[in-house]
Amino acid sequence: MYDRFGRDIRYLRVSVTDRCNLRCRYCMPTEGVEWMPHSAILSYEQIVRIVEAAAALGVRKVRLTGGEPLTRKGLPALVGAIKAVPGIRTVSLTTNGLLLAEQLPDLLSAGLDGVNLSLDTLDRAQFAALTQRDELSRALEGLEAALAAPGLTVKVNCVPTGSNDDQLVPLAGLAKDRALSVRFIELMPIGLGSTLDRRTEDEVLSRLEAAFGPASPRPTDPLSGPSRNMTFDGFRGEVGFISAVSHQFCNSCNRVRLTATGFLKTCLQYDHGVDLRSMLEAGADDAALRAAIAGAIDHKPAKHHFCGQREAADERRNMNQIGG
Ligand code: 5AD
Ligand code: SF4
Repeated sequence: MYDRFGRDIRYLRVSVTDRCNLRCRYCMPTEGVEWMPHSAILSYEQIVRIVEAAAALGVRKVRLTGGEPLTRKGLPALVGAIKAVPGIRTVSLTTNGLLLAEQLPDLLSAGLDGVNLSLDTLDRAQFAALTQRDELSRALEGLEAALAAPGLTVKVNCVPTGSNDDQLVPLAGLAKDRALSVRFIELMPIGLGSTLDRRTEDEVLSRLEAAFGPASPRPTDPLSGPSRNMTFDGFRGEVGFISAVSHQFCNSCNRVRLTATGFLKTCLQYDHGVDLRSMLEAGADDAALRAAIAGAIDHKPAKHHFCGQREAADERRNMNQIGG
């Protein structure tokens, strides 16, 4: 469906848990967080009901995120149930990869279409410092398993900060010999994201061009998201930039987000949206659910103001509760 600014909302990101087995510095506090109790988290049945209502309104693509989605039991069953919802075309997963190798066979049988693996460095000590866990080798096993899966779309997501400058070229280099898209996601000043140094698209691109030569643009499918894709001579894969701050893309934003506790969030920056879990708990029927989603989408904010003054309606959650 279209919002009041004419944006066609086709993409729903679903956070299935706020829990995670890493502690990335821009996402979660070192001392850990108080996890949401299971009773506050949507059940798989509730998630599927919300997806059905969203699909009836035009959502075609679902991405499961977290926290770390693979820490929630039985995720392949949810993938299968969402794939079976009329109207849904693709179901993909954003993961840190630690549990991916062991769960991938079941996820593929359930019909998973794609995996985005969050990976900010290929250096073991730096990985341990950035994520506060010494788990690089398990993340890389997950990546290799995904790359070996026929028909699975694989992307690597890297957030460039002052802490991984020396890793941007090696990470982009993953796309040299592999049919892989390596995307650089500008750090957004949300939650702990405002405590680290952001590197902009232009800064990253000039490092990559110094190493690989001039970048050439690749066609971008506007429905698939805000990534601006490029490649370099001799590359099999590609590099993408998702630059919410330096190249704001709010006017083509096609997504809404569902938090693990069932809040449908219509913009990353604001707490605007609707509490669907309360509605479900109160016995709302499908028509009421659709009306609530449609109403929230209609009021989706025009754009973020990452560089402006703080506002009363600003998001106070950390990224592990939103899912990126
Ligand atoms: N800005 C940009 N990306 C972020 N992520 C987490 N926090 C931020 C932030 N503040 C990324 C993670 C992961 C995805 C779910 O979101 O690295 O790839
Ligand atoms: Fe976990 Fe992802 Fe947050 Fe890192 S960014 S702590 S992997 S949820």
